[in-house]
Amino acid sequence: MTDIPLGDLTVHHQPRDLRDRVALGFTKVLRWSADTFFAKRYGHRAIVLETVAAVPGMVGATINHLKCLRRMCDDKGWIRTLMEEAENERMHLMTFIEVAKPTLFERMVILGVQWVFYLTFFALYLVSARTAHRIVGYFEEEAVISYTLYLKEIDEGRSPNLPAPAIARHYWKLADDATLRDVVLAVRADEAHHRDVNHGFASELAGLAPTGRAAPYPAHADDIRRAA
Ligand SMILES: [Fe+2]
Ligand SMILES: [Fe+2]
Repeated sequence: MTDIPLGDLTVHHQPRDLRDRVALGFTKVLRWSADTFFAKRYGHRAIVLETVAAVPGMVGATINHLKCLRRMCDDKGWIRTLMEEAENERMHLMTFIEVAKPTLFERMVILGVQWVFYLTFFALYLVSARTAHRIVGYFEEEAVISYTLYLKEIDEGRSPNLPAPAIARHYWKLADDATLRDVVLAVRADEAHHRDVNHGFASELAGLAPTGRAAPYPAHADDIRRAA
């Protein structure tokens, strides 16, 4: 079993200008909506929100890819990073679908939210890639908080600490006797890494000084199709 890196769970980017404040305000509205809709149903919450979380990376990768083609320039590694983020978020979804089953209403919500969020985020990225990455950074700050609360539910016995699904054991290279707690720790470490990468991209686009190293990324399987 590989060790799951902990990383810094307390990172918060202080808003520096109007765009940052808009990004944070938007995130807080969505946080309140998610808290109201799901309360403490963390498995269901994870499924619905991971269907959203897997969108920005692919949008960012697509737009940067097209931009690099037009300008005939190097992408400085952004495209692969963003595509990997999208894939990683999809693996979160594929893992939690083994833990909880979405209701019919939640599936309808996913359909509607995907239409709205994909188009809105795509338009936002075209207008201000910097704000788009800042929003993702703030989303990921909230994801770290949510998975910390999920761990608390497990540790205090309100959510069962089920055996880790096989797909998760393979993807995060976990031991055969790994549990849901190990999975949530790994997912939270992924989110902390995305948080720092996206805040870093936003800061780079804003011309700010580099924000330092991103939280360590857990080891992932290379052949993720075998996991499925
Ligand atoms: Fe995620
Ligand atoms: Fe994430």
